[in-house]
Amino acid sequence: MIHFNSVSKAWPDGTHALRNVSIEIPRGQFCVVLGPSGAGKSTLLRTVNGLTKPTHGSVSIDGVQMCPASEKVLRQRVAMIHQHFNLTNRMTVAGNVLAGMLPAVSTMRALLGWFHPEHRARACKLLESVGLAPNHLQRRAGDLSGGQQQRVGIARAFMLDPEVVLADEPVASLDPKISRDILTLIRVAARERNTTVLCSLHQIDLAREFGDRIIGMREGEVVFDGTPAAFTDERLRALYHGAQWEEKPDHDIRIRHQHSTQTSAEPVPA
Ligand SMILES: Nc1ncnc2c1ncn2[C@@H]1O[C@H](COP(=O)(O)OP(=O)(O)OP(=O)(O)O)[C@@H](O)[C@H]1O
Ligand SMILES: [Mg+2]
Repeated sequence: MIHFNSVSKAWPDGTHALRNVSIEIPRGQFCVVLGPSGAGKSTLLRTVNGLTKPTHGSVSIDGVQMCPASEKVLRQRVAMIHQHFNLTNRMTVAGNVLAGMLPAVSTMRALLGWFHPEHRARACKLLESVGLAPNHLQRRAGDLSGGQQQRVGIARAFMLDPEVVLADEPVASLDPKISRDILTLIRVAARERNTTVLCSLHQIDLAREFGDRIIGMREGEVVFDGTPAAFTDERLRALYHGAQWEEKPDHDIRIRHQHSTQTSAEPVPA
């Protein structure tokens, strides 16, 4: 369970990236975060692994709060998949997947490439499970296609059997077919291990298809929290364009009042 407890983040320039966010994400849920550019999606994800420190409030995983004392341990329980893959291009595919062990092994061991044979076997197995045959193991990561690089990113993320995977726009630079394949791989890997996934997306159709739950953010606030079925086109427009909403009584769906009429360049229905 990830618990965001009244989390706010104000940057020194006065930007409020998160405003009093309180949500609970149960273990094993595939939770998609949607919202216009600048809404605070990446900031929200980064508070879970301590890359961004909240100005107010706290984030905890299974009751353990992210703080300097717990950060090292929590980092082993939280992995990240990035939009631009974040592989070391000059390193081999195998080396990049083994880098997923870094939070748990000494830097010296990692630098010297001293990984346990069990870890190497695990890396091979994970690569196979994301569709990369053994002949890719010694290839230079930078030579792979975007879709192949993200497969390596997924294998790396699951190296330490994390409880939480943060995926920040993991398919933003991939074509629609590969995007679906990549999200399917993340979903399958997560379901096998009961891993919680917090995934920001800009593709509404994919959010509806893959999310167990959609969290809609706007100007640092959670303005929608519900199932894909409840995320109607009307609510989609409200999220991206802003609208006056009445509070809905059912607690599955939470739409807050939006006062901004600012439009965005996001692909929403007319
Ligand atoms: N390091 C930083 N310093 C100052 N402001 C920042 C910093 N990082 C993010 N912000 C601001 O915080 C707000 C939220 O940014 P964030 O990156 O979380 O948005 P996002 O929803 O992920 O957007 P996108 O869809 O474009 O990735 C934005 O106004 C952004 O400019
Ligand atoms: Mg972002």
